Amino acid sequence: MSGPIAKATIAEIEPYKAGKAKAAGYDKPIKISANENALGCSPAASRAYVALANTLHVYPDPQANALRDALAQEHGLEPSQVLFGTGSDEIFSMAAQAYLNPGDEMVQPQFAFAAWAIAARAAGATVIAAPERDYTIDVDAMLAAVTPRTRMMFVANPASPTGTFIPFAEIKRLHAALPENVLLVLDGAYAEFAEGRADFDAGFDLARAAPNIIVTRTFSKLYGLAALRLGWCYSNPKIIQTLNKIRLPFNASSGAQAAAIAALNDRDFSARSLARVEAGRAQLSAFFAEIGLAPLPAFANFVTVRVTEATPQTAADIEQALAERGILVRGLQNYAMPDCLRITIGTEAEMQCLETALRSILAR
Ligand SMILES: Cc1ncc(COP(=O)(O)O)c(C=O)c1O
Repeated sequence: MSGPIAKATIAEIEPYKAGKAKAAGYDKPIKISANENALGCSPAASRAYVALANTLHVYPDPQANALRDALAQEHGLEPSQVLFGTGSDEIFSMAAQAYLNPGDEMVQPQFAFAAWAIAARAAGATVIAAPERDYTIDVDAMLAAVTPRTRMMFVANPASPTGTFIPFAEIKRLHAALPENVLLVLDGAYAEFAEGRADFDAGFDLARAAPNIIVTRTFSKLYGLAALRLGWCYSNPKIIQTLNKIRLPFNASSGAQAAAIAALNDRDFSARSLARVEAGRAQLSAFFAEIGLAPLPAFANFVTVRVTEATPQTAADIEQALAERGILVRGLQNYAMPDCLRITIGTEAEMQCLETALRSILAR
């Protein structure tokens, strides 16, 4: 049957696969497959969301001004240079739509968040993957992948699905060597988990001064508001004005705006979430090493672990055996890391269950 023909680059797209949410036979599986917040979200954010239940007929503030001001104050930014998305995913799409033409190239690291390539290919561009070194972004390889056709580059720091990190000096070196007509997207989905490090910087000052940087952030991780789909970005006025032209009206819902303001103000919840991740990450990494698995250096709210030949089971076997015990982790076959599992830091009790299950699976 003939019919409309989609752009050739769309044929190359693998639809996004979310972390598994169901385990046969378990009403409430332990879901540590999607890097959600183990502690839920701030109770104040839930209350702010519920408080809107009787005003669902009213459109949101299209500019999200109260939230914009709160974020600008929190991070020392110009409110007019902040723009919201339905999750940071939507910002990647807007940026790709605005800056990529068919035939252009987008460069990303070898192990990259899947939504970036979807956005680039939907815009008609070709995706170029730059090899990593030890599952860590290699700035020289990223620069070597740049051609006269390159118009966009994505980097997450800390990265997903690897969880690894590069010092901000490396990001600066990458940007300094990049032609000005290449847009650099610094995806800070996991930035909050590295903020305490001396060699980390969110990149806002660099983005303020540069003609070609967008920094993206999300409320889905530290703030635990993944269901509300709220991301934001900071860039120079010219780029923000461009993105704003194609941003669909009312893309940040009222519930998301209200909950996000409350979440920003609930410093106790954020501190507890961060403390849980830091403690859980160290414990889980040590546990993996003890049982003969090879954890990658972990800087976000998860640990990615390699199942080496020393272990009789494959990563897929272990993922399956855990699911049979009601524990959902993320296999990374579709990220070209088939020997790895990505495991979100859960509550102490969840991590205890995981350890018990893994010991029994590996003892078989
Ligand atoms: C690197 C990275 N960027 C962005 C996102 C998506 O964030 P959001 O929920 O804001 O769309 C994720 C989600 O897992 C991620 O891992």
